[in-house]
Amino acid sequence: MPRVFVSDFIPGDILEPLATLAELEVWSQPSGGLGVAPQISPRVPRQTLLDRLADCDGWLSMLSDTIDVELLDAAPKLRVISQMSVGVDNIDVEACRAHGVSVGHTPDVLTETTADTAFALIGAAVRRLPEGEEIVKSGEWGPWDPWHFLSGDLHGATLGIVGMGRIGQAIARRARGFDMEVLYTARTSKDVSGATRLDRPGLLERSDIVVIAVPLADETRGMIGRAELGLMKETAILVNVARGPIVDTDALVEALTEGVIGGAALDVTDPEPLPPDHPLLQFPNCLVVPHIGSATVPARRAMASLAVANLVAYFRQKLMPAWLPGSAEQPPGDYSAPGSPSESSDS
Ligand code: DGY
Repeated sequence: MPRVFVSDFIPGDILEPLATLAELEVWSQPSGGLGVAPQISPRVPRQTLLDRLADCDGWLSMLSDTIDVELLDAAPKLRVISQMSVGVDNIDVEACRAHGVSVGHTPDVLTETTADTAFALIGAAVRRLPEGEEIVKSGEWGPWDPWHFLSGDLHGATLGIVGMGRIGQAIARRARGFDMEVLYTARTSKDVSGATRLDRPGLLERSDIVVIAVPLADETRGMIGRAELGLMKETAILVNVARGPIVDTDALVEALTEGVIGGAALDVTDPEPLPPDHPLLQFPNCLVVPHIGSATVPARRAMASLAVANLVAYFRQKLMPAWLPGSAEQPPGDYSAPGSPSESSDS
């Protein structure tokens, strides 16, 4: 039986198809059940990963695991990794290929949920909801005043989406319901009804809201820095639902301090987690939530199911339903039928 290390709790009913095929070691258990436990389970320490993976054939990893040459060298039997996330910026994919390791991940099943989160952040930031709540809680809520606590409108605003992939397109669909003008940047034109492709400076200059929806890669690291923030309107809101390092944090702190932009709403930050005394947390117009873009029970169950389905398919010598291009091709096998996720809902 192959041995598989699992970096975090996966609900038993989802893990079952893998448990019948492989000997599993699951790193941790939640205390209150899926979606209920407020505690964050501790991440697998690096040394534990190095030790445990030494005799494992497969690994169900999390985006908090750093998958690099050192780790792959320490895992000579490892042939397949399936990560429970769409983002794979923690994985040295080239090194996986060189080590003969096939990689799977979990695209599509979190697209709509992440777009919902983007819209929740957009609405909260544009209409200043966290600031409003603060005023209520601090006792500063006075009599109704026609000129107090005003903001821009959400409907009819110009929304600039940086990256028109699956999540960008799902955000654009929601924007139509708010009668927004949608601008986007992308390497190639996309067939998205009513959306206009622009270069990045043009989008930054014209948008009332700029949403980052590109993956983190060498080309996108630090893509939004001082110069880019300087192009944005003084009233514009920056929203990041992708990865923290796409935005230069120091430049953002500076822009918020100097009123270069109107505010920010961040599901992801750099560093992550953000220490409680971080300068970004001092601004009433900067809303930060703890990387919860896909954190709904249905989305996380679908992600776990797809991550498991990748491994089940691999060990049954079927094609993984979500193999990551650039990682090792799957070895020769009976690929007559694709492996199918037990519970995934492609968006
Ligand atoms: C992903 O899957 O990459 C997300 O960031 C997790 O929500």
